[in-house]
Amino acid sequence: MGMMRSVLLAGSQSVWLRESAMRYPFVRRSVSRFMPGERLEDALGAAGDLQREGVGTILTHLGENLTDLGQAGEVTRHYLQVLDQVAGARLDAQISVKLTQLGLDLDAGLCFENLMALVKRAEASRNLIWIDMESSGYVDVTLELFRRARVESPRVGVCLQAYLRRTAADLESLLPLGPAIRLVKGAYMEPPDRAFPRKRDVDENYFALAARFLGASTRVRGALLGIATHDPRLVDRLQAFVASAHVPPAAFEFEMLYGIQRGLQRTLRGQGRRLRVLISYGEHWFPWYMRRLAERPANVLFVMKNVLAG
Ligand code: FDA
Repeated sequence: MGMMRSVLLAGSQSVWLRESAMRYPFVRRSVSRFMPGERLEDALGAAGDLQREGVGTILTHLGENLTDLGQAGEVTRHYLQVLDQVAGARLDAQISVKLTQLGLDLDAGLCFENLMALVKRAEASRNLIWIDMESSGYVDVTLELFRRARVESPRVGVCLQAYLRRTAADLESLLPLGPAIRLVKGAYMEPPDRAFPRKRDVDENYFALAARFLGASTRVRGALLGIATHDPRLVDRLQAFVASAHVPPAAFEFEMLYGIQRGLQRTLRGQGRRLRVLISYGEHWFPWYMRRLAERPANVLFVMKNVLAG
């Protein structure tokens, strides 16, 4: 793992750094490149703008690892309200949740109830709830809760991470469900016995997993792959794959983060591909923002330029 990435990922956990960074206007300014604003209204406004360009969205309220169950209830009520507002405004906007935000660390049973409240509400408005994947210690329980929810409703999808060695087996075991899977490379700091340390191996695994899913999707009804990457090389390879394997367009969509690779987003739209953009909002953007910096050292230069300009 690159030195810069390790330092930034370690920094994402630092309370001191978080509290210091949030006081600086230049940090806030550079964050605005990746999120339209802290308030739900900002995210809904951006979702409306993107919808007019034919782009769907996924909304996510930033926050991780809660300390009491009351907060998990608040998060759940917040997302229920988001689903209602999205339905009321006829927005093509899904939501994506972290199970730790719904109380996973404190009470897995209650977390599942919270999740199901969201899934049921999504079902009523024909929407979809995505479950984010967090660090590797959460994969078993996340997949277990996903399976239980998926038995009750198809209106739920889960994220899988291509950097984990276990993901090929996880994907294989999920395929018979005809699931909605969002495939990402993975954003956390993981040891080499769990995650491929070399980027080249992560990229190869990503392609192999996506091709496996898409190849099978012609036989598994209802399955959807969210190809969630900004990597132009992978996007090209997968475009060639779907053409050669005659993968139906309904079986996949591209998913990217707000503000990242806008040129590639436009190109995909121009080619008539389905695209969804994930919009984050909320006050707890610091660890999330540090992970975005860790993904691309050039982002650190961007922040430094802001420091000098500011
Ligand atoms: P990679 O990091 O190789 O980047 C490819 C290229 O994209 C870079 O060369 C650069 O040009 C551009 N790029 C990538 N990141 C950038 C950035 N921050 N700023 C500017 N340019 C950038 N992870 C996770 O562990 N759990 C999850 O639940 C999710 N959920 C999720 C949803 C969606 C919709 C997306 C798009 C991503 C996630 N992720 C995630 C994050 C994911 O794991 C990964 O860290 C990032 O997507 C970056 O990896 P790429 O696949 O883009 O490739």
